Amino acid sequence: MSNNLIPALTTAPISFGASESLRIKELEAQASAFRNSVICAFNQLLDLKDLNTGVHSTRLAEWGMRVGQELGLEEAALQNLEVASLLHDIGKVGIPDSILRKPGKLDPEEYALMKKHSEYGWAVLRMLPGFERAALDILHHHESFDGKGYPAGLKDTEIPVVSRIVCVIDAFDAMVSSRPYRKGLPHEEAVRRLKEASGTQFDPVVVECFLTFAQAEMATVFAAAGTSVSSAL
Ligand SMILES: [Fe+2]
Repeated sequence: MSNNLIPALTTAPISFGASESLRIKELEAQASAFRNSVICAFNQLLDLKDLNTGVHSTRLAEWGMRVGQELGLEEAALQNLEVASLLHDIGKVGIPDSILRKPGKLDPEEYALMKKHSEYGWAVLRMLPGFERAALDILHHHESFDGKGYPAGLKDTEIPVVSRIVCVIDAFDAMVSSRPYRKGLPHEEAVRRLKEASGTQFDPVVVECFLTFAQAEMATVFAAAGTSVSSAL
């Protein structure tokens, strides 16, 4: 074969014309619209299951994005963090109400079933194009920094950073939020418990980052989520 029939290799960057750039922008806008639609649809499903969960998830998204930005996560990871914050408990749709709404402590069998919600969430979201990574982050949102969490018993940096962030802010929000059967903890007590479990249950870097702004900006975040600090207590 003659050499001049072989296409020349080039290291020059691929350049797009105006029409290609426009088409790429359109496709990106479509992908973004699809992503937002899926988030909204699933959020409504969460609202149907338990009204409190929707507000809880919105607060988590606000906090999650703050922590993610402070820790220098890249744009793609921030997008997954937003999805994981909003939809981390989507798998609870598959848990019976008798367990979800049980006022008292769950027995071992009930607790084992409750723990399945992270796998259920992963199983649903991984089937959606563009949500595969967020599905994995959701799968691991109950791992513990010392390896004693579930479902995989991952530890330290084996746990995806998005999952480590969701774990901290989810626990904090659950502590300060009131439930029909119990009043939320005062912020000071929730902060104390977060610090106490830093390095065992929680990633200490994430805890430190969250606490640098959590108390000072609590009112702003609650307002952005359409609620108030006092109504959550
Ligand atoms: Fe969860």
